[in-house]
Amino acid sequence: MNTADLIWMNGEFVAWEDAKVHVLTHSLHYGTGVFEGIRAYETERGPAIFRHLDHLDRLRKSAQLYYMDIPYSTDDLREATHELIARNGFRSCYIRPLAFRGYGPMGLDPLSNPVEVTIAVWEWGAYLGEEGKRNGVRARVSSWRRISPESLIPHAKACGQYLNSVLAKIEATKAGYEEAILLDHHSNVCEGTGENVFVVRDGTIFTPGHSASILDGINRKSVMEIARDLGYTVVERDIARAELALADELFLTGTAAELTPVRSVDDVELGPPGEITRAIQRVFDDALHGRAERYREWLDPVDVAARSAHAAG
Ligand SMILES: Cc1ncc(COP(=O)(O)O)c(C=O)c1O
Repeated sequence: MNTADLIWMNGEFVAWEDAKVHVLTHSLHYGTGVFEGIRAYETERGPAIFRHLDHLDRLRKSAQLYYMDIPYSTDDLREATHELIARNGFRSCYIRPLAFRGYGPMGLDPLSNPVEVTIAVWEWGAYLGEEGKRNGVRARVSSWRRISPESLIPHAKACGQYLNSVLAKIEATKAGYEEAILLDHHSNVCEGTGENVFVVRDGTIFTPGHSASILDGINRKSVMEIARDLGYTVVERDIARAELALADELFLTGTAAELTPVRSVDDVELGPPGEITRAIQRVFDDALHGRAERYREWLDPVDVAARSAHAAG
């Protein structure tokens, strides 16, 4: 992993190696934190953050669902992120804001523990590999079910919830696959360990809806809009496990993985990425890198030059 010089921590810029917490930090024990995964892309006009405010909005909503008040405004967090990218000199990077219950009383009622907030940035290539993005990854259906709304909150991006993804990911990689696809508690297709899932059959694109315990992915939403703009029909509905293997095309979307095709599922070969996957992937990539005028509003440009001039002056 490539590190950065600075991390933003509770309102201060601190050196990467000094961004530390106490071992009795509540969230370290009980998973009581929420986070986001965001990317900034290199564009003609400098680094630009993809759907930044949508991510910050989801962070705040995840926090609310766990009764946490983030002690910074969305503007504060946006400004801190811009400054952090500029000060670290990144042209593109992954951005990880985290709000967590800090050091304080131990025990399961966290309401008196302080809410701490950090933002880290680092350079991070294609999560499922460049080769995977080009030619597709091998996935398996996990023996682990996605967390159910009866026990946790699938709509929240909360730290402790990710033990579910961690188990599924370990199982998949130990068995030689690049990614796992989890079913929901009704045995319908839910999502990958950090990605939403899309199935293409007979020219129509299907993806599980909100009642299937998905995380409401920001890239999912973007890809649905792009697909519709390209003239495809996108349907949110329950997807049976067998439909994965029966798919003409299958792909995953997420901030880390971007749009990654799936070339086999449970060793059933689907073949190289299909025409529809390719068409959407091309436009999506243009949108991420500021080459698609139509989706320019999705980008939050970081004015590095103005910030450096300000710092120098
Ligand atoms: C469990 C899970 N599902 C789906 C996604 C995709 O969400 P997004 O497109 O907002 O990155 C992610 C990544 O954040 C995730 O962790």
